[in-house]
Amino acid sequence: MKAVATRLGARTNLALLAVLAVAFMSGWLAFAFATAPARWSLVLHATGGFAILLLLPWKSMIGRRGLRRDRPGRWVSVLLGVLVLVSLAAGLAHSTGLLVNLGWLSAMEVHVGAALVAVPLAIWHVVARPIRLRGTDLSRRNFLRGGVVVAGAATVYGTTELAVRAIPLPGNLRRFTGSYEVGSFAPDLMPVSSWMFDAVPQIDAASWTVEVAGRAMNYEELSTYGDRVTATLDCTGGFYSTQEWTGVRLDRLLAGANGSSVRVRSATGYDRRFPIEDAGRLLLATRFGGQELDAGHGFPARLVAPNRRGFWWVKWVVAIEVEDVPYWWQSPFPTQ
Ligand code: HEM
Ligand code: HEM
Repeated sequence: MKAVATRLGARTNLALLAVLAVAFMSGWLAFAFATAPARWSLVLHATGGFAILLLLPWKSMIGRRGLRRDRPGRWVSVLLGVLVLVSLAAGLAHSTGLLVNLGWLSAMEVHVGAALVAVPLAIWHVVARPIRLRGTDLSRRNFLRGGVVVAGAATVYGTTELAVRAIPLPGNLRRFTGSYEVGSFAPDLMPVSSWMFDAVPQIDAASWTVEVAGRAMNYEELSTYGDRVTATLDCTGGFYSTQEWTGVRLDRLLAGANGSSVRVRSATGYDRRFPIEDAGRLLLATRFGGQELDAGHGFPARLVAPNRRGFWWVKWVVAIEVEDVPYWWQSPFPTQ
């Protein structure tokens, strides 16, 4: 009997490892897109998240048994459990729209933050408790059992999505990326956000210049351009805002420059690299909604990168360089 319970425990742990990895990776995959693949990543993501919930009754049996063993560091495992539950609760609070803002943090920030803190704990947890697999653990029957958990999770997810629309809950209003609309065509109401640690710099336009392919341009010169684009900034913090942006298209500034990528750099040191073919779609903006940018939104000039998530929209731009490095030669997500 004990052997059967141990095998069940090993299989549950293995299944949990798989769905945790799927939920974590598909979350980042969703953040990588502001186009259709974001939705498919999130369907996978939510299914992984609900599968964790479905495995909970079995895992709590393992957990209770393990806690009785008085193993050193077991409270770290409990902390891991708390973090995963906080992440799950914040994800659901965001998706249903029942609690989108928690004081100075958004539910989405808590969701991702708790998951990030959980990662080293989860790695330690698994490495310190090696599970010995047997051939029978990977049998057809056990794959079918896994399939039942996944199908169950997909059904629960589908049902919650239908319920959000039918009731309807505020989550009904979110975009395919999961973000909520805030302050569109009303620049003063558009939230200010940054990827991680960038503090808003106060820049004096009179002494500021932007270096474009080796040539310095000042604010006055840049302000003479009137290229316009209506584009949506979709922030990974969980909101989106559509504005009419005015500035200059990068292909006009970079005419004649040779290279394979464009690197856009901020006064803070933050940077992103784009394929050179994108230059015609990128705008170096000085205005939104007919008014000057404010410091929080990137004054004197920021990048507008349609169909890319907010972290590509570099603020406080000081340099635009054409280089021979391929655009993918960068960390997929900024580290600053
Ligand atoms: C959501 C993620 C997880 C949580 C919250 C969690 C929580 C716990 C807790 C509270 C314990 C009992 C205390 C302890 O032994 O430290 C435990 C035991 C254990 N966990 Fe996890 N765990 C998770 C995922 C995993 C994964 C992915 C694996 C392996 C692939 C795993 C393998 C084990 C093993 C082997 C034990 C020891 C059981 C025993 O001694 O009877 N856990 N877990
Ligand atoms: C422990 C790891 C994680 C778990 C268990 C988890 C689980 C969940 C769950 C259950 C939801 C609600 C799904 C729904 O009802 O629509 C959700 C939403 C979401 N999660 Fe995660 N998540 C994790 C980590 C992450 C990470 C690391 C990211 C991003 C880097 C992320 C991004 C998102 C996004 C964007 C949504 C909103 C989806 C929507 O509203 O349609 N998650 N997550």
